[in-house]
Amino acid sequence: MSVKQRKKLIEVALPLEAINNEAARRKRKAPAGYPTTLHKWWAQRPLAAARAVIFAQMVDDPSAYTDELLFDPMKRRAAQRELETMLAEHKAKKALAKASVLAEPEPTLEEAAASIERKRLFEIIEELVKWENTTNEGVLQRARDEIWRSWRRACADNRDHPEAAELFNPEKLPAFHDPFAGGGSLPLEAQRLGLEAYASDLNPVAVLINKAMIEIPPKFAGMPPVNPGSRRGRGSMATRWKGASGLAEDVRYYGKWMRDEAEKRIGHLYPKVAITAEMAAGRPDLKPYVGRELTVIAWLWARTVKSPNPAFRAVDVPLASTFVLSTTPGREAYVEPVIEGTGYRFIVQAGRPSPDAKNGTKLSRGANFRCLMSNSPISGDYIKAEGRAGRMDIRLMAIVAEGDRNRLYISIHLRNWRPLRSEYSQSGSRTLPLRRIHAHYGRQPTVSRRSQTCSPTGSLSPWRRSPTW
Ligand SMILES: C[S@@+](CC[C@H](N)C(=O)[O-])C[C@H]1O[C@@H](n2cnc3c(N)ncnc32)[C@H](O)[C@@H]1O
Repeated sequence: MSVKQRKKLIEVALPLEAINNEAARRKRKAPAGYPTTLHKWWAQRPLAAARAVIFAQMVDDPSAYTDELLFDPMKRRAAQRELETMLAEHKAKKALAKASVLAEPEPTLEEAAASIERKRLFEIIEELVKWENTTNEGVLQRARDEIWRSWRRACADNRDHPEAAELFNPEKLPAFHDPFAGGGSLPLEAQRLGLEAYASDLNPVAVLINKAMIEIPPKFAGMPPVNPGSRRGRGSMATRWKGASGLAEDVRYYGKWMRDEAEKRIGHLYPKVAITAEMAAGRPDLKPYVGRELTVIAWLWARTVKSPNPAFRAVDVPLASTFVLSTTPGREAYVEPVIEGTGYRFIVQAGRPSPDAKNGTKLSRGANFRCLMSNSPISGDYIKAEGRAGRMDIRLMAIVAEGDRNRLYISIHLRNWRPLRSEYSQSGSRTLPLRRIHAHYGRQPTVSRRSQTCSPTGSLSPWRRSPTW
């Protein structure tokens, strides 16, 4: 026996402008606590779009229940008034069409009633997609009520279906399953709209994200936090823990505890960088940080080979595909190599990089570079031979540190790096060869081939507050 189905709103119309605007706004900058900030997932659907699409799939299009609408005397009268306007518009259109035949038939009372009702559903969607309403129970409940209304209609339509007891239970909404859930936008929004949501994915990271968003929080819904800090401060049991706010409180507490413990045990392997007045000279962006120790996000390295020019044979010259560090407008930064006698050092400059900086020491496509000291070409074959001979090394170009709201690019000032400083002064060299860094940090920094960045940290950044969702 076939299932009786009414046309759904999504098959007829959607308030696309409102949905698109909200989706675009959030795509540009997700607010703190937005699930996107939990873990970046490629192709994650904007929550506004996911919420609207699920709602519009679940509710009937008003053209599918005009009998119900016209049965209500108030709605019938409103439809009659609407019809008069629609007929006037139709007449005007017909007059404009003149000789050409207007193919559109005259509007009917049913269409007038559906049009009013559709506007009402659009208003629900327009409110529903706003980020500010993500946890607004009033707005969400209005949407859930509409879904229930359509579902009960479907159950009534199919009450004679042989499996009606299982498939069309008017007391239980159908479950939602997204087998390619990725970042979890769809199951999360389905759950918010009152559906029992299931998610799966081939990728275990996606599974973890979905567990954290849709599986674990409901298990603790309405429960108070258990951490000692909240217990002490709670006093009475009067505080009501809405949704997963109790769980969120615990995650913040124990997350901070874990971060602090990790910092105690391995923090010494992740030295901070102290900003001195000397470092801030000529760097207005660093001035507000003088006297502070900042967390290092990344160390930027250049691979080096011995110069092919016999006059500079002892110099490890950088193979840098670019010296540009940041192209963010207003925060541009680049590395300037400064040649001093028989060596060189890198200085980070804030401001627009020169066109030369873009290419670093690269000459053309492929592995062709130039010697920083002599401009002699360095061919791919030479680099390979140097590598085989064990003469390739790496050299620190700059440090990326975490500022208050942005990244800061900092020159290498060894006096701020205690462990490296002693090594540096012993070596009497301006380079920091890889093997000496290993000796200090106990492991080889991983250098990405493309960007030449090395992240020793995993960045022990402060635990951030996030609202519940
Ligand atoms: C376009 S993404 C989904 C994005 C998701 N709708 C969101 O809003 O984040 C597609 C997902 O399908 C998953 N996938 C691809 N092939 C799969 C398969 N055979 N079985 C399960 N998941 C698969 C991928 O791992 C990826 O997470």
